[in-house]
Amino acid sequence: MDDAVYPDPSFGSAEETEALRAAAAADPVGFWADRAAELEWFEPWDKVLDDSNPPFYKWFTGAKTNIVHNCIDRHLAGPYKNKLALIWVGENGTDYRTFSYFSLDREVNQMANVIKAMGVGKGDKVTIYLPRIPEVMFAMLACAKLGAVHSVIFAGFSADALTDRIDDSESKLVITADGSWVNGEIFPLKDIVDAGIRFSPTVENVIVVKRTGQDVHMDALRDHWYHDLTALPIANGKCATEHVDAEDPLFILYTSGSTGKPKAILHTHGGYMVGTYTTLKYTFDIRDEDRWWCTADPGWVTGHSYLVYGPLLNGATAFMFEGGPTYPYPNRWWQLIEYYGITTFYTAPTAIRSLMRFGDAWPNRHDLSSLRLLGSVGEPINPEAWQWFHRVIGKGRCPIMDTWWQTETGMFQICPTPSMPLKPGSAGKPFFGQEVEILDDAGQPVADGEEGFLVLKNPQPAMLRTLYKDDERYVNTYWSKYPGKYLAGDSARRDADGYLWVIGRTDDVIKVSGHRLGTAEVESALVSHPAVAEAAAIGLPHDVKGNAIHAYVVLRMGYEPSQQLAEEIRKHISVHLSPIAKPDWIDFTEKLPKTRSGKIMRRVLKARALGQDEGDLTTLED
Ligand code: PRX
Repeated sequence: MDDAVYPDPSFGSAEETEALRAAAAADPVGFWADRAAELEWFEPWDKVLDDSNPPFYKWFTGAKTNIVHNCIDRHLAGPYKNKLALIWVGENGTDYRTFSYFSLDREVNQMANVIKAMGVGKGDKVTIYLPRIPEVMFAMLACAKLGAVHSVIFAGFSADALTDRIDDSESKLVITADGSWVNGEIFPLKDIVDAGIRFSPTVENVIVVKRTGQDVHMDALRDHWYHDLTALPIANGKCATEHVDAEDPLFILYTSGSTGKPKAILHTHGGYMVGTYTTLKYTFDIRDEDRWWCTADPGWVTGHSYLVYGPLLNGATAFMFEGGPTYPYPNRWWQLIEYYGITTFYTAPTAIRSLMRFGDAWPNRHDLSSLRLLGSVGEPINPEAWQWFHRVIGKGRCPIMDTWWQTETGMFQICPTPSMPLKPGSAGKPFFGQEVEILDDAGQPVADGEEGFLVLKNPQPAMLRTLYKDDERYVNTYWSKYPGKYLAGDSARRDADGYLWVIGRTDDVIKVSGHRLGTAEVESALVSHPAVAEAAAIGLPHDVKGNAIHAYVVLRMGYEPSQQLAEEIRKHISVHLSPIAKPDWIDFTEKLPKTRSGKIMRRVLKARALGQDEGDLTTLED
C-alpha cells in the first residue's frame, strides 16, 4: 500500500472498520436489521429481506413506517428539536433562511396541508420542478408525509423533457417556481412548465413558488401562488404523517439509459430510509456539531439521498446553496465554507477540476479550517484532482470519500470509510454488506488488475425496486446479462489490496460533468431539428467535464453545413433537451457507420475521433 494516504487516527481505527466489514459480510441481512433498529417504525417487520421472487427483492416486509417520521417527527421529541436542520443561502449571497427541525416541521406540514387540499393522497404522483430553494425540500417531504410519490425533475430540463416525464408519471400536481437564478439571470421555470403541460391529460393543479418576481402567466383555474395558498386556513396545523408500508413507493426519478426513453427508477420508504441513513452515517462520520454541505441539486439522486433525506435521518444540519461555484467569482464556495463553518463537503470531480483551473489563490484567501471531511461523486476522480482537493482545500488533513453509486442503487455501494487508508482515484471498497465482482463477458471473474464489468452481488435495502410501469425493462437492463447479479453498466478493476477503480460506463450512457445522458436522447433531440436527417452522439474525454458530447450530423437535402447551422443545432439541444446536453463539437458528415441491420456503430466513431484502432468492422454495412 505504498501509494496510499493514511488518515489521522482520530477518524477511528482501520482494524475496527475491517472487523465490521467482515461481520457484515458474514451476515449482510443481520447488518441491515441492526441498522434499521436504530430508526423508528410504527409496526415491526416480519422479514428483513424477502428474496422469494428475485430480482424483485423486498425489504422490511410487514413493517409500517414513513421516512418523514424519521427525518423530522422523531427529532421533535428529542434533543434536535431546536437544532438547525437547514441553512439556505441564495445565489446572490445575501438571501438567507434557516430552519430548525421544529420550523422545518411547520413548513412541511403547511405544504402537506395545501397539497392534500388539492386532492393529492397516497400513491398519487407529484412532479417537482423547483430551483435549489428550501421549498424543494419541503415539497419532497410533504409528498412523502402523505404517502404521495414525488418525481423531481432537474430545473434545467426543457419543456419537451418535462412533457415526457410528467406524462409518463401521470402526475396530478406540478410544484414549480416563477423562475430560478442562474448566474444572475432569470431562467423562466413557469413558462417552461406552461409549455410542458399544455396538453397534459393528468395535471390538475400547478403550485408556483415566488422566487424571481417577474410577471408570469397564471391560469386562473389551474395555477396557484404558493404564498396565497399558505395564507388560507387549510394550511394551518399539523398534517398527519401517513403510516405507509415499508415497500410503498417514496419517489420515482427519471434517469438516462441506453434508449431514448428515460428510465423511471422507483424507490420505497423503508429500505431507502435505512440505506441512506446508514451510508451517510458511516462514510461521513456524521457528528452532532457538523455542518454538512452536499452541492448536488435535488433534481439528481445525490440531492435526494444526501442533501434531503440522509442528513435529516441523521439529525444533521444540512447546508443548501442556490448558486454554482464560480458566480460571481471562483471563490464563492470557499467563501461559504468559511462563513458558515462547513465541516463536511461533498461535491463532484467536474466542479473540483473547474475550480482547480482558477489556481490556489482563490481558496487560499479563505480560512477553510472548519473542514474535516471531503467527498466526491458522479464520475471517476482523476488522481490530480484528488490531490488538489486534498492538499489545497483539505490542507492535507481531510480524508476524501470517493463514493461510487447510481440513481438505481439509491445509496453508496463502493466507498472508503474515513479510517481507511485512501488511494487517490480509487473509490475504495464495497460498502458493508455488499460484494462486488468484476466479470468478463462470459461471466468469469477477471484477475486482479484487469478491467471487467462491475457487478453487485448482494441485494441491499436502498436498491431500486423496479422501473416504474416497466418490470420487463428492469429485469432486462440489470439482471439478465449475469442472472442473479446486478449489472451496473460500468467497467472497473480491483487491485491486489482489494481497492476498486471504476473506469467508466460500458453502455450508451455518457457522464458529462457528472450528469447522466443517454446517446439516444441526445440523438433524438438532434433529429428533431429541421435540418437534421440523421445523427449520432458519442462522449469524448474532456479535461474538465470528464466527457463532452461529440455529435455527427447528416443534413437533409437543401441544407448546407456552416458554422452558423452548427451553433443553431447546439442551441436547439439546449432548448429541447437541456443545456447540459449541448454538444461541444458538431461534425457534418455524409454518412454514419452502421451495421447491416441499421444500428449506428458509435464505437467506430469514437475510435476514429480518438485515432484508435477501429476494431472488428465485419458487421459494418459498407
Ligand atoms: O458511471 C458511474 C458514475 O455515475 C453513474 C451513475 O450515474 P447517476 O445515476 O447519475 O448517479 C450519479 C450519482 C450517484 C455510475 O454508473 N459514477 C458515480 N459515482 C462515481 C462514478 N464513477 C466513478 N466514481 C464514482 N465515485
